[in-house]
Amino acid sequence: MKKILITGGAGFIGSHVVRRFVLHHPEYHIYNLDALTYAGNLENLRDVENAPNYTFVKGDIVDASFIDSLISENDFHGIIHLAAESHVDRSISDPMSFVMTNVVGTVNLLNAAKKAWAGDMAGRRFYHVSTDEVYGELHDPGTFFLETTKYDPRSPYSASKASSDHFVRAYHNTYKLPVVISNCSNNYGPNHFPEKLIPLMIHNILNNKPLPVYGKGENIRDWLFVEDHARAIDVIFHKGVNGDTYNIGGHNEWTNIDLVKLLCGLMDKKLGRAEGESAALITYVTDRAGHDLRYAIDATKLSEELGWKPSLQFEEGLERTVDWYLNNKEWLHNVTSGEYKGYYDSMYVNR
Ligand code: NAD
Ligand code: DAU
Repeated sequence: MKKILITGGAGFIGSHVVRRFVLHHPEYHIYNLDALTYAGNLENLRDVENAPNYTFVKGDIVDASFIDSLISENDFHGIIHLAAESHVDRSISDPMSFVMTNVVGTVNLLNAAKKAWAGDMAGRRFYHVSTDEVYGELHDPGTFFLETTKYDPRSPYSASKASSDHFVRAYHNTYKLPVVISNCSNNYGPNHFPEKLIPLMIHNILNNKPLPVYGKGENIRDWLFVEDHARAIDVIFHKGVNGDTYNIGGHNEWTNIDLVKLLCGLMDKKLGRAEGESAALITYVTDRAGHDLRYAIDATKLSEELGWKPSLQFEEGLERTVDWYLNNKEWLHNVTSGEYKGYYDSMYVNR
């Protein structure tokens, strides 16, 4: 049985990728490597944790000797790398942890794969999961990020991801490591840690707390349902061309304020509240420093070359997401109260 290492599999997107590979690919044994930081949560994977083709490994990608041993002792056929510090606001207050995990951690994995796969690269694959934020921000409507768009990272988070992308390409060029990279737009869906916009708003609406909209709420993001991202990763892992990059996006742009209002309307209906009750919680707050104005992905290459397309309309995906949070209040309570790990670590959830 071929072994696949997935890093960051206890996090938001990683847990959906792990579930997809465990359930759709019984021909693989999936190893989920995760340090279980504040963002990682094994409760995200309760439904597959006893699957015969699944193993969890607790460990830190910043620990070079541990990573070297893990990868040299296991004959991994592929590595799908998602482990990262992922929240832009945290990168503004603590850039160095982003350098350590996103840059040093990625290079540790590259070094270990290069060593373990030396002389036997055929059929192997190092898949690096990246973000559209490496391309900077867009201004003109009708312009989109292409795979050829010049890198222009503008936050410590996106600078760390851009740096890791450069290392991955450099290892392909210099050492012929078989790599593939994808750059995806904003994800949403179940198990999203409630420091990010959509789950934070759901959490605060439920608890009648202010809904903090940065600046004027005019910034634009392109939202994709997380299971569609996991399916894209599956397709690219199996069919992508070595050395290539694929953009993944939803063609689904929303200003933050319109999105928050849509969510408020949906939650009013679900919670039996009067129309406008949740929207009354909207509070405009100081803008994020260096806040990127607009992201929008052109995913034509992925759809034309590998046949992937998003499957869900946004309204349907958002309703599924809200329903998941309403049916999983215990998860929401556990991750925000710290009952899960015995500690509580979020600068953003309970403000
Ligand atoms: P997340 O913060 O929810 O999860 C990150 C996971 O990585 C957690 O389980 C955490 O415990 C683990 N981790 C963190 N540091 C680690 C370390 N040093 N060693 C081992 N594990 C560690 O992140 P996410 O939103 O699921 O994002 C996953 C990946 O996808 C990231 O690489 C991110 O840059 C990328 N991405 C995210 C989005 C998005 O909208 N969330 C969009 C495009 C790309
Ligand atoms: O584009 C992909 C990226 O999307 C990923 O690489 C990141 O890991 C992921 O966190 C996400 O980054 P954003 O900064 O776009 O996501 P966030 O949910 O933090 O914010 C979305 C938008 O909402 C952004 O314009 C900032 C705004 N916002 C966010 C929060 C948390 C608010 O207005 N209020 C808030 O409280």
